[in-house]
Amino acid sequence: MYKELLDKLYKYHELSYLEYLELIKNRDEVRDYASLLASKTCMKYYGNKIYIRGLIEFTNYCKNNCYYCGIRASNKVAERYRLSKEEIIECANIGYDLGFRTFVLQGGEDSYFTDDILVSIIKEIKALHSDCAITLSIGERSKESYKRLKEAGCDRYLLRHETIDKNHYELLHPKNMSYFNRMECIKNLKELGYQLGVGFMVGSPNQTIEMLAEEMVFLKQLNPAMVGIGPFIPHKDTPFKDKNSGNAELTTFLLSLIRLTLPGVLLPATTALATIDKEGREKGILAGANVLMPNLSPLGVRKKYLLYDNKVCMGEEAASCIRCLKKRLSKIDREIVTDRGDYALMNRVL
Ligand code: 5AD
Ligand code: FES
Repeated sequence: MYKELLDKLYKYHELSYLEYLELIKNRDEVRDYASLLASKTCMKYYGNKIYIRGLIEFTNYCKNNCYYCGIRASNKVAERYRLSKEEIIECANIGYDLGFRTFVLQGGEDSYFTDDILVSIIKEIKALHSDCAITLSIGERSKESYKRLKEAGCDRYLLRHETIDKNHYELLHPKNMSYFNRMECIKNLKELGYQLGVGFMVGSPNQTIEMLAEEMVFLKQLNPAMVGIGPFIPHKDTPFKDKNSGNAELTTFLLSLIRLTLPGVLLPATTALATIDKEGREKGILAGANVLMPNLSPLGVRKKYLLYDNKVCMGEEAASCIRCLKKRLSKIDREIVTDRGDYALMNRVL
């Protein structure tokens, strides 16, 4: 019966809330079948290609205080850093030579990086590498700001909603952060024509199975180009330090459901998944993921960009990480491509 639900999802790319809930509750019975259908779907849209995104963590200053995150403003132990424009460009250049055609500029909500500064960084990367896509992941900003960044040449934006449940959002964030504002930002990014990425943590404190079923309904409705999910992992200097981690099995099952729900979506096997399971990346890809985001940040600052404990690949130069990934992927019949890797359905009507 659960197999039939998966067949239905494979065929129509949509289930009701209650059907998603049934599947998530009984995932142990259909995990492999879900992976199989999700892989098949992924192959149909993207073949055996895996897209790589070069992650440049350019500032760990953040004005926010999300209870789960290691670079929250109140973490006085975190050593703060900012990369200069030249250092960011240098990371992109190194990445370009390694075959990266997308750069993800990620950072905390750092007011040092005004629109003017970001615009000049985006323009310079685009001038040097016109065949590359730029993704920003720098949190909540005004619609005017998102507009200026888009006009400067930014192609994509990642802003995880973190949870679809308003009460849950308020348990994960302090009072000065607003669920409605987050959702408004997401709406604005979409209206401005960004390839939009949203997402949530799996197994964050107080998350329920019901919320996860809601997440699927929300994703279907929103229809984003990208979805980033990874297990919650506690960080020792945060209020959630004693909470349990999310688990890899549930994360990979949800990856399959997302692939089946949004067949053309760009779906990373995240670093957090690789952190809680040493084969997390492979498992994620076999469950339907098709994106990897190796770190291009300078080795000297890597240890300072810690959102959670025990993050993997901390001491690896990007070049050796790529070699390692290629080897790992060849074992599961996938290959890395040098390509911007745009959203497959961007110009297509379903
Ligand atoms: N564990 C897992 N993921 C985390 N993030 C932040 N802190 C943690 C944590 N402790 C995720 C959030 C954020 C993204 C950049 O990293 O979902 O949006
Ligand atoms: Fe980074 Fe293996 S994936 S070193």
